[in-house]
Amino acid sequence: MRHLALIASVMLWAVGASAAAPDTVTVAVDATQPGAKISRHIFGQFAEHLGRGIYEGVWVGPDSPIPNTRGIRNDVVAALRALKVPNVRWPGGCFADNYHWRNGIGPRRAVTLNPDWGGVTEPNTFGTHEFMDFMAQIGAAPFISVNIGSGTPQESADWLEYMTSAQPTTLALERAANGRAEPWQVPILGLGNESWDCGGNMTPDYYASQMKIYSRFARNFHPQQQEGNPMLRIAVGPGGGEPRFSEWTETVMKAWKDRKWSWDIEGISLHNYTVIDWDRKHAATGFGAQEYAEILQATLKMDGLIKQHVAIMDRYDPQKKLALAVDEWGAWYAPAPGSNPGFLVQQNSQRDAVLAAVNLNIFARHADRVRFANIAQMVNVLQAMILTDKEKMLLTPTYHVFRMYVPFQDATFIPVKLDAGAWTQGQITLPRVDVIAARDAAGRLLLSLTNLDPVRPARIETSLNGASLRSVSGETLTAARVDSVNTFDAPGAVSPKPLRASVEAGRLVVTLEPRSVSVLVLQP
Ligand code: AHR
Repeated sequence: MRHLALIASVMLWAVGASAAAPDTVTVAVDATQPGAKISRHIFGQFAEHLGRGIYEGVWVGPDSPIPNTRGIRNDVVAALRALKVPNVRWPGGCFADNYHWRNGIGPRRAVTLNPDWGGVTEPNTFGTHEFMDFMAQIGAAPFISVNIGSGTPQESADWLEYMTSAQPTTLALERAANGRAEPWQVPILGLGNESWDCGGNMTPDYYASQMKIYSRFARNFHPQQQEGNPMLRIAVGPGGGEPRFSEWTETVMKAWKDRKWSWDIEGISLHNYTVIDWDRKHAATGFGAQEYAEILQATLKMDGLIKQHVAIMDRYDPQKKLALAVDEWGAWYAPAPGSNPGFLVQQNSQRDAVLAAVNLNIFARHADRVRFANIAQMVNVLQAMILTDKEKMLLTPTYHVFRMYVPFQDATFIPVKLDAGAWTQGQITLPRVDVIAARDAAGRLLLSLTNLDPVRPARIETSLNGASLRSVSGETLTAARVDSVNTFDAPGAVSPKPLRASVEAGRLVVTLEPRSVSVLVLQP
């Protein structure tokens, strides 16, 4: 191990007084054994036409008093730009299999229904052009889900031609007449959504047939996407660990292994929400240590679920050509009191920050297979980054975790060994700390350290093999309570603070506050 060159002064931000003394957890980072690239696409977002996720959350229209650019609110765009959002999955969700793209282009938009989400009307004022403009404004790649449930292969083929053709076809000319002469790139395409459920209750075999047809006919004609930069097609994968979902993964993977020249896919999805009882969902706020532990215990099952489906994928695809795209994940709580239950509005607490970090860490540990993930959802829906109330906007604790993790985008996974320790709440015993490491393109070593323990601080001593250190900077996110939230009256109540580490006897030493997420960046 090389000696650490510079000692950073110690300054820890502490939340309140903690009676417990920090026990020591030792971590060993071995930078001589780099792993897979942590795809930036695991930090993807999901934006469905659901409740106030698009309308108000993103789209306010060009005539709104809320500052906007071509109808898209400026405050939300600025906040998302800071996250370097790699891709946004749109227009759903269940909505995608109800969506008919022609309703969302041109000067006159059809008013339709949104039967899955509150039964409200859908004005279609936010359609293809507006979504692509939004992607350009935040610098993200579009991840378009085509309608397999109630659409047709021809409808999807036409949408792809409308978006991507550089040739003067009738559809490309219609796009130009609607204000966009240049074709758009479509880097990621979802072939349906939850086709085993809201997407049409298909059997695995029926879906596999549909997947082949849509893969064949929903073609991308963009001149720069023909070679070297092809559109990545994500088929519908499993939605849990039950036997029917193993069968689903098996069927899709077998179909892929037996594929012919005429069709292909580049990934399959996995949907997994953190819910304990769908009929009696946990509250998003006003909970205590027991509910905190129950939710973290449930969310940590993501690792086993990924392993279960990766094991099936490995049998058909040992070279790991296909990605596993966890393109819906996050906490799903009871609706906020007084809200339309169909709008899936929920507050977002420090528990969600911890939950987000441990899931991102799980994805990073499976970086060789998990190359996409999309948290549900981006604004005002489920585990959101951003909440709005008309002209007001706040950033949630989950937002702050995504912002702190930006350096991990496309960094190389570095293995760590640790004895995580344990904390116990009632019948539940969970790991006390969670750590991942990575090295970015600039050679910086990145450490993410999460203290799941709601009460005890943790002193972390890290040995570094194959890494030197000139200086270290860091941030930590914690809060007075596990259920602390940001509100429109106190939007900064839960926000990151500087965290510094020291070097003692050649080890990097830092103390983590209880219920905290921290990221350290070590300069080489
Ligand atoms: O994110 C909300 C819904 O959850 C999506 O529309 C659906 O795909 C999933 O069941």
